[in-house]
Amino acid sequence: MTSKTRIPIKLQINGHRHELEVEPRVTLLDALRDHLGLTGTKKGCDQGQCGACTVHIDGQRVLACLTLAAQAEGRAIRSIEGLADGDGTLHAVQAAFLEQDAFQCGYCTPGQIMSAVACIREGHAGSDDEIREYMAGNLCRCGAYPHIVAAVRQAALEIASSTETAS
Ligand code: FES
Ligand code: FES
Repeated sequence: MTSKTRIPIKLQINGHRHELEVEPRVTLLDALRDHLGLTGTKKGCDQGQCGACTVHIDGQRVLACLTLAAQAEGRAIRSIEGLADGDGTLHAVQAAFLEQDAFQCGYCTPGQIMSAVACIREGHAGSDDEIREYMAGNLCRCGAYPHIVAAVRQAALEIASSTETAS
């Protein structure tokens, strides 16, 4: 019987350091869900086509199903579990999704929200068309798109006005 090779890796997730041993082929998605119990990041297609597994690495959105866990070593990973403030205050995008009823089954929602946060930060939420274009990698089987766009628009406006107030 052959033993499977495992490698030690250290991951920085939502500000916490985790040490684990995984096979080199383990994806970041499986490391999060199966090794660390962070199941907020969802597995849809597992082949880069649905966006359900979207997380941030060093502030950029990435598909965790197409990223090896080992590739993320030494970088700052943020998953949906790390989006709200430490005191539980929801991120503006999370609050807007609730207010706009931007989900039905909710399966795509963590990926939609992580993508939306990045979309706004990238400056790609200036109009509904732009939001649709830059959120196109996140599929919703329930067809909640109009509400998702409304939520991203609302959050973008709130974030812009809070930035103006702060400056
Ligand atoms: S699960 Fe990663 S893109 Fe679908
Ligand atoms: S809310 Fe069901 S897949 Fe999007």
